[in-house]
Amino acid sequence: MVAKRGLGSAPVRGRRVLVRVDFNVPLTPAGQVADDRRIVESLPTLNHLRAAGARTILLSHLGRPNGRHDPRFTLRPVAHRLSALLGQPVPMADDPGSVKAIEMTARLENGQFLLLENLRFHPGEEANDPTFAAQIARLGELFVEDAFGTVHRAHASTVGVPQRLPSCAGLLVEREVRELSRLVDAPERPYAVVVGGAKVADKLPLLESLLGRADRLLIGGALSFPFLAARGAQLGGTAVEAGLETEVAAFFAKAKDAGTDVVLPEDLTIERPGTNEPSVHAIEAVPADGLARDIGPRTRARFIESLDGTRTVFWNGPLGLAEDPRFAEGTRAVLGHLAEIAGYHVGAGGDSARVAQELGVANGFQFISTGGGAALEFVQGLELPGLAVLPDA
Ligand code: ADP
Ligand code: 3PG
Ligand code: MG
Repeated sequence: MVAKRGLGSAPVRGRRVLVRVDFNVPLTPAGQVADDRRIVESLPTLNHLRAAGARTILLSHLGRPNGRHDPRFTLRPVAHRLSALLGQPVPMADDPGSVKAIEMTARLENGQFLLLENLRFHPGEEANDPTFAAQIARLGELFVEDAFGTVHRAHASTVGVPQRLPSCAGLLVEREVRELSRLVDAPERPYAVVVGGAKVADKLPLLESLLGRADRLLIGGALSFPFLAARGAQLGGTAVEAGLETEVAAFFAKAKDAGTDVVLPEDLTIERPGTNEPSVHAIEAVPADGLARDIGPRTRARFIESLDGTRTVFWNGPLGLAEDPRFAEGTRAVLGHLAEIAGYHVGAGGDSARVAQELGVANGFQFISTGGGAALEFVQGLELPGLAVLPDA
């Protein structure tokens, strides 16, 4: 890991500081913040800046409004939640290029905050348009990157702005980089990785990058289905992501060469139409109308046993349809075991952090990243544009 210049001694008193945060949080159907973890995790940096007398201008996106003003993606609910957490008002400015925004930033007093409306309302954000980046940059005198969840995007607010201003990493980004680096730079072995969830095509590069670096790879959830299918399992009516046969075969061959032990489900918890009661079947014997929803009890025991004796564990993705209590037991039991064993345990993934909280098993982790795609790319050892642009320490 290359450490980035931190906030530490940057002179911020009385200066306008642009802070990129990742306030891309889930909203309820009524438009309220459903999970404020990403807002809460930004507080150390925001409190630091407030105490140091900075005038803080917050930059974020929310959702994917595709360059158009779309009220469903307004950051207003976030401003509301943030001002409750900070105990002071957080006014908003609509358009970084407007005279109004310039005036509002110029009127900020020491210790005050301003939040710019969703930057993805403007096409220039995702395009990293130089004019748009310059409009944002002129609102501040220095830039702090604290949006770890977005550092894998080369957008105006993550790359264009830090190219134009003195920049550094915020406290959340520093912490994320420090913790996740322990998985990349010589993790203590044995190192096991538990991967589930869906989106097999997206996660195959992650799995491949772990071959040879991890000692054991435990694959569950819908992610395991193409691997099971390749091994000849009959998965009944379960939807299996298609077109991955060649990649999966290559993956097994590489795993063998790399000496990484790949552990797949042996049995599955199955849902059948017309009944509420799930049943358990071996992977060779799923009924024709059965839908695989969770790992079965034999697999739970096998996964738990595979984690014993490890020194490092990385987890991404639920091992079943964990939103449904009938299919949450695999995830709950396997992750619950992490609280019982020693070692360094890290979780990451947009849905994963929420699932670990909801199932009450987050306490088995020393660290849960605020990143989804960003954390997975980091763990693969890829260069992230929003970090690469920051000066080294
Ligand atoms: P993350 O965002 O943490 O990387 P993913 O988005 O890849 O995780 O996957 C999370 C989703 O995968 C969850 O909504 C979960 O219900 C779903 N999932 C996992 N296993 C199954 C399964 N066996 N059947 C249906 N859905 C599943
Ligand atoms: C995330 O939630 O992963 C980040 O906020 C990035 O969002 P994006 O995938 O829409 O770029
Ligand atoms: Mg997800």
